[in-house]
Amino acid sequence: MKIVYSCSKCGAQFPKWSGKCLECGAWGTLDKESIIENQKDKKVEELKSVKVDFVDLSKIKNIEIHKLKTGFSCFDKVIGGGLTPSSLILLGGEPGIGKSTIISQLINEKLNTLYISGEENSSSVKSRFDRLGIKINNLKFVSENNIEIIIGAILKLKPEFLIIDSIQTLYSNEVEGEAGGISQVRACTVKLMEITRKFNMATLIISHVNKSGDLAGPKTMEHLVDCVLNLEGDRLHRFRILRAVKNRFGSTDETAILEMTKTGFQEVLNPSKIYLSSISKDAKGTAITAIMEGTQVLMLELQALVTKTNFGYPKRATSGYDQKRLELLLAVLSSKTNLNLGAYDVYINLTGGFSVSDRSLDLAVCMSIMSAYYDKKVQDNTIVFGEVGLSGEIRSVPKTKERIKEIISLGFKNAIIPSFEKSIEIKGVNLEFVKNIEELKKFLV
Ligand code: TYD
Ligand code: MG
Repeated sequence: MKIVYSCSKCGAQFPKWSGKCLECGAWGTLDKESIIENQKDKKVEELKSVKVDFVDLSKIKNIEIHKLKTGFSCFDKVIGGGLTPSSLILLGGEPGIGKSTIISQLINEKLNTLYISGEENSSSVKSRFDRLGIKINNLKFVSENNIEIIIGAILKLKPEFLIIDSIQTLYSNEVEGEAGGISQVRACTVKLMEITRKFNMATLIISHVNKSGDLAGPKTMEHLVDCVLNLEGDRLHRFRILRAVKNRFGSTDETAILEMTKTGFQEVLNPSKIYLSSISKDAKGTAITAIMEGTQVLMLELQALVTKTNFGYPKRATSGYDQKRLELLLAVLSSKTNLNLGAYDVYINLTGGFSVSDRSLDLAVCMSIMSAYYDKKVQDNTIVFGEVGLSGEIRSVPKTKERIKEIISLGFKNAIIPSFEKSIEIKGVNLEFVKNIEELKKFLV
């Protein structure tokens, strides 16, 4: 046994503890971990005699993987058509976002399922199933934290679908450290991976995310699994986005926009309509934009507040938007237009509770700031999207046509878009092409 210190963020290992990870620069992320030392390297000559089976991939016939359908079709869509046998899926999300709810909805009577919870007991899990009205005839439940006992349960039941809620609550007798620590999380994931492959199961592991939005636990956990799904949104709002950030069996383009109701999650079929009712038309300091969420268009409203700084140092704060990106856009606005933002506090709020870091929001952020600064509203019925470059130029963004088609169907009359898209020909909307951010001013009325 050897003691090393591993960074819980990037997985780098060091012989000594320090406050800061020298690899990724994160503070307070080094944890003690014991590892078994490798055997001495074999000599090259010895390795030459090792038996290896080379596989000729061209001789392998097309294999059709039979995917297992869960009880929630939009989940199947996001992971690429259903659960793939012998695969591991990691589902991450903040506490209270709805991870336990979504996995309950995955239960399908036709699938022999084993549900392990290290967090809840049988009565609270049962009451959730009752509330959701889900049939659980083919489901076995175990409330357990010890991975060895869990493996025993798997060996007995040999399920097709295994659910673990959550990896941070499991521990192994063979590894030191508390449940939730990196050694435990990694060891339990490896054990689950081995048994998943051995019994050809589909395993879904829930993982908490930490404050910065990363999956809690080592990055290596993400490398071990086949799919990483994130459930994002704001606990205080109804809407969530289920997104695949890694997917070995399908694209990462599909997302599902879900609404939390009294009876669990429901897919929102017209996501672009979500915010239309709440959009505060005619308000100064707001701009409406269209972003792509996978293959779907989502309308968002950006609000800006620009006020004179009372103290020497101007404040910049955001909600649902990247603060660093705001600072960059403010620097561009200050240097390329007549806005004197050095003497103003700037606040940006993305309504609806989503967090979006899409470059196509740039133009709407600038537009809302200008609107607040000049105390004029953006002309009626207008959508704005595009990326802003460092010299104030407006750059094009993907899927302009798709966004505009959606905008038309929602009844918007004008779209302010990058001039790179001049070749676009779409009827039913007045397209305004802009080359640099200075031009935005003429759309304020
Ligand atoms: P939960 O799935 O327990 O979150 P997590 O496992 O990610 O911590 O549920 C989160 C919240 O969802 C909880 O506060 C109650 C609410 N909820 C509903 O609004 N409707 C429902 O049908 C269910 C089951 C939960
Ligand atoms: Mg839970």
